[in-house]
Amino acid sequence: MMRHQYHPLGFEGSRIAQGFWRANEWQMSSAELLSFVESCVELGVTTMDHADIYGDYQCEALFGQALALKPSLREKVEIVTKCGILLPSSHKPDIKVHRYDYRAEHIIASVDQSLASLKCEYIDTLLMHRPSPLMDADEVAQAFDLLFTLGKVKHFGVSNYSPAQFDLLQSRVEAPLVVNQVELSALELKHFNDGCLDHMQQHAVTPMAWSPLGGGRLFSSNDESSLRVRNVLTELADKYETGIDQLALAWLLRHPAGICPVVGSGNLERLKLAAASLAITLSDDDWFKVWIASQGHSVA
Ligand SMILES: NC(=O)c1ccc[n+]([C@@H]2O[C@H](COP(=O)([O-])OP(=O)(O)OC[C@H]3O[C@@H](n4cnc5c(N)ncnc54)[C@H](OP(=O)(O)O)[C@@H]3O)[C@@H](O)[C@H]2O)c1
Repeated sequence: MMRHQYHPLGFEGSRIAQGFWRANEWQMSSAELLSFVESCVELGVTTMDHADIYGDYQCEALFGQALALKPSLREKVEIVTKCGILLPSSHKPDIKVHRYDYRAEHIIASVDQSLASLKCEYIDTLLMHRPSPLMDADEVAQAFDLLFTLGKVKHFGVSNYSPAQFDLLQSRVEAPLVVNQVELSALELKHFNDGCLDHMQQHAVTPMAWSPLGGGRLFSSNDESSLRVRNVLTELADKYETGIDQLALAWLLRHPAGICPVVGSGNLERLKLAAASLAITLSDDDWFKVWIASQGHSVA
């Protein structure tokens, strides 16, 4: 078998990442977006999380236009992007059905499009966005080998994969899968309990947490679980002299799997608070108060 000399050391990124899913809602000019990304870097948030489909296929291009104003910024950030979801869109008239596509041909074309939109030469980490029942792992392996050999992608990973789906793909691809990006927050405990985080710890895979603030539900949702979590975090916010958003991130950071939250606000003040959450260490008593509030009952 051809050897590709994949880097064995895993995910190279910042502990907190900035997500660009909502970037088309931020109403920033390219100069303003550039300034925002520069501020991210100054705060140590150097990992920029994208996907081909974000903002109806427009967010990568917004980022690329900002990057083009200062190309030297490319070496100061790590770009994560994703592929594999087909979304009907006026920008993609050939897509008729919202579905998945992990054929080698599609993965390679998607990366080429992402590179053109992002106006850069390589992607640091490419994630398969969602598991697909029609994914042929051997075909994905062919695409990874080509993209790596051509220098277009440095690392590979997955998103929303179960441990079994992860193992299947890893059994066929030579590249180490370095990330599994899944939904994790004080409002979403599923992957704490289904073996997903345990599997990542076992295999030294980095868990990136999407919607770490529940996509904003932490502040606005009035369902019973959200209200209980918000009440506990509000009590703790007094004790730690901070805000509930910082505590919700500190709660994720406390987990031994080394969770990397991907925050999604384009508000610089909120990003500063997120970056400062790295300095907060929740006590185990307080961590479990949040856990118990979220699940709605005590531990056994
Ligand atoms: N892999 C996947 O399948 C997947 C799925 C979804 C998302 N993602 C990634 O994860 C990233 C983050 O997701 P997300 O945007 O849902 O994350 P999030 O950080 O949990 O939520 C961001 C939302 O919360 C609001 N918010 C933040 N702080 C607030 C505060 N103090 N008070 C009130 N509202 C506040 C933001 O509003 P403002 O913008 O007004 O601040 C924004 O609407 C995305 O950008 C994307 O990169 C990945």
